[in-house]
Amino acid sequence: MQNLFRMLTLIYAHPYPLHSRVNRALRQAVDGLSGIRTRDLYALYPDFHIDVAAEQSALAESETIVLQHPMRWYHTPALLSLWFEKVLAYGWAYGHDGAGQHARALQGKRLLWAVTAGGSQTAYSASGYNQHTVHEMAAPIRQTALYCGMEWLEPHVLYGTGQLDAVALARAAQDYRGRLVQLLGEKA
Ligand SMILES: Cc1cc2nc3c(=O)[nH]c(=O)nc-3n(C[C@H](O)[C@H](O)[C@H](O)COP(=O)(O)O)c2cc1C
Repeated sequence: MQNLFRMLTLIYAHPYPLHSRVNRALRQAVDGLSGIRTRDLYALYPDFHIDVAAEQSALAESETIVLQHPMRWYHTPALLSLWFEKVLAYGWAYGHDGAGQHARALQGKRLLWAVTAGGSQTAYSASGYNQHTVHEMAAPIRQTALYCGMEWLEPHVLYGTGQLDAVALARAAQDYRGRLVQLLGEKA
């Protein structure tokens, strides 16, 4: 039972995984960690037909859920957007179930948004060309988590992906690994 509570599900959404440099490195750094299960959405659902029951079951068994993806036009890749629509369903994540009981399957679970951005941190500021911080852009995801009763964790943001040399990328991958290890160990 205790292991179940420590389970972390990593929802990985990269539309072109073979072209990924940064997310691939981050993912490789955490693959195989004890307690982590990765669901690679574009590998599982190339036709966009999401297995809702399988996704819900993975979430239900997890204490922590990580959403990892590259920023795509200031939000998530399309399949992750569809995943929200399909998986966080009425009668399961919110609303009432068939017996009229409050449906709160994600209540109390922790959500970490792990996003990589081509823009620099300076670009993501009120005076930068993106005009908003990444944290401000997180608003729809954060509010979705809160609406479902989840605990919103400080996002894990990697900026300036195009500028990362091999050393910086390796360091970023280890930082990410450290963050997830900490999450896995926090609530034993
Ligand atoms: C179609 C497309 C849209 C993108 N939109 C953004 C964006 O809105 N903001 C941003 O900072 N980077 C944006 N980028 C850059 C990607 O986020 C960046 O290349 C990615 O995080 C690098 O990770 P990867 O090597 O795993 O692909 C975009 C890239 C593409 C191809």
